[in-house]
Amino acid sequence: MTTLIGISGSLRRQSFNSALLRAALPLVPTGVTLEIASIREIPLYDGDVEDQGVPAVVTELKDRIAMSNGLLLVSPEYNNSVPGVLKNAIDWLTRPSADVARVFHGRAVAVLGASPGPFGTQLAQNAWLPVFRTLRTRPWFEGRLMVSRAAAVFDEHGELIDEKVRGQLRQFIEGFAEFAGETH
Ligand SMILES: Cc1cc2nc3c(=O)[nH]c(=O)nc-3n(C[C@H](O)[C@H](O)[C@H](O)COP(=O)(O)O)c2cc1C
Repeated sequence: MTTLIGISGSLRRQSFNSALLRAALPLVPTGVTLEIASIREIPLYDGDVEDQGVPAVVTELKDRIAMSNGLLLVSPEYNNSVPGVLKNAIDWLTRPSADVARVFHGRAVAVLGASPGPFGTQLAQNAWLPVFRTLRTRPWFEGRLMVSRAAAVFDEHGELIDEKVRGQLRQFIEGFAEFAGETH
């Protein structure tokens, strides 16, 4: 069994990125589980808070990632880069630094995203790469998914209504799951 943890980098109720992650659920191949994890309860990183102990919500998510075969980030793009809420969550997940190896080293990671604009989070996806490298993850580069013009891809209930994108999403999930499931 291959287990993937999927995280949306948006807290917005009508988030296109959360909708994209939900749309992936029925597309996972047999033998693969995609678990959606939330970053909503993760506080702003504060070294003074860390000195009192890493919050339980962070530790729990670290453990889930450490037990998984792969981490799927569904990331919005803010100002041509990564969104602060998701970067904040990743930063917490790297504390204490002694735990980075357990949680991230060699972990399969992939990033995809959706934007109402024409470029579909291309620059945010590029901006994640130094983070993936710093954490010594195992990024998947064989597929890319940048969902542009997202307002026409999802309906008002956040349901994916674009069959071309559904096919691309299925291909992305299948490819990443296979990569994550490979022993190395
Ligand atoms: C602070 C801020 C900066 C943004 N910068 C970009 C950007 O650089 N590129 C882009 O495509 N969209 C940008 N957007 C628009 C987001 O793509 C849009 O709000 C999107 O819906 C966010 O993802 P979500 O639907 O999952 O919440 C920005 C939005 C905000 C709030």
